[in-house]
Amino acid sequence: MREKINAMIEKATELIQNAAELGSINELKVQYLGKSGEVTSLLKGMKDVPNEQKPEIGKEVNKARDIITNLIEEKIKDLQKKALDAKMMKEQIDVTYDEVDANRGSLHPCTLVIDEVLDIFTGMGFTVANGPEIELDKFNFQLLNIPKDHPSRDMQDTFYAGEDILLRTQTSAVQARTMINTQPPIKLVCPGKVYRPDYDATHSPMFQQIEGLVVDKHVTLCDLKGLLELFAQKLFDENTKVRFRPSYFPFTEPSVEVDVTCSVCHGKGCRICKGTGWIEILGAGVVNPKVLDSCGIDSTKYSGLAFGLGVERIAMIKYGIPDIRILFENDSRFLKSFK
Ligand code: PHE
Repeated sequence: MREKINAMIEKATELIQNAAELGSINELKVQYLGKSGEVTSLLKGMKDVPNEQKPEIGKEVNKARDIITNLIEEKIKDLQKKALDAKMMKEQIDVTYDEVDANRGSLHPCTLVIDEVLDIFTGMGFTVANGPEIELDKFNFQLLNIPKDHPSRDMQDTFYAGEDILLRTQTSAVQARTMINTQPPIKLVCPGKVYRPDYDATHSPMFQQIEGLVVDKHVTLCDLKGLLELFAQKLFDENTKVRFRPSYFPFTEPSVEVDVTCSVCHGKGCRICKGTGWIEILGAGVVNPKVLDSCGIDSTKYSGLAFGLGVERIAMIKYGIPDIRILFENDSRFLKSFK
């Protein structure tokens, strides 16, 4: 019997040591320690052992069970550690592998323009404001001196969502929202999406604007010109000149369209500026005193200036993009060129 036990231990040790996978070690566990395993049947066979030998043989069988159990447990730990090590080796990240960059995205040209414009104005002490895209008629029109049924509403076709609710047609709505809650001095820029039912090579039903508003004592049209000239020189180049042409917006008086010298031909005339040497970049003006008063700002004490630029338009000029729709197609070959 003792020989049988020793032979079993020897055989088990060899098999366990040679096991290379968790699967085979589990099989060995069943083979030796399972319900009808070898060790278990030895224990069962104890009843046939003569009484006087029982204590000694019993001890041997128990010892064999302990040895085999320990060997199996150690082998399991060993194999688990090896599996973990192998997994870690496989999952190693090579931080010097530069192909990882191959499909990284890039900022959309409109995002680049917004970042740059906000950077220029915050550098001049402006804060950045935001407002909702679903807006009340009151803020988008009425407080800006555009009453209901007024012909100037025709300047901006509108998506209405109800009698008094609409998709804002201009970030100027944020001017009204701000002035109604804040007393001057006010100096803000507001980027955001606006909506108008237009669609062709230069118009999209959704586009982005950046609004600027300054309200303080003694703010004049001269300040507007100086401010926009400095802005244009930072956005295009330092030789850029600005020209004002008379225009009309209900919320500014006087109102102007602002042109800059063409950054491609520097005023000589080219395809981009359609031979004129000038490119229109934004609308602006001195805030109409009526607007200040309806927003609760005393127009006898304060004056303001405002401007609004189209982000897509600036991107098209700056990067020579011929059709606004390209900006919305998000063709990755086009976007990649802005890396
Ligand atoms: N809100 C005007 C537009 O969308 C632009 C503008 C803003 C003009 C501020 C004057 C002052 O056309």
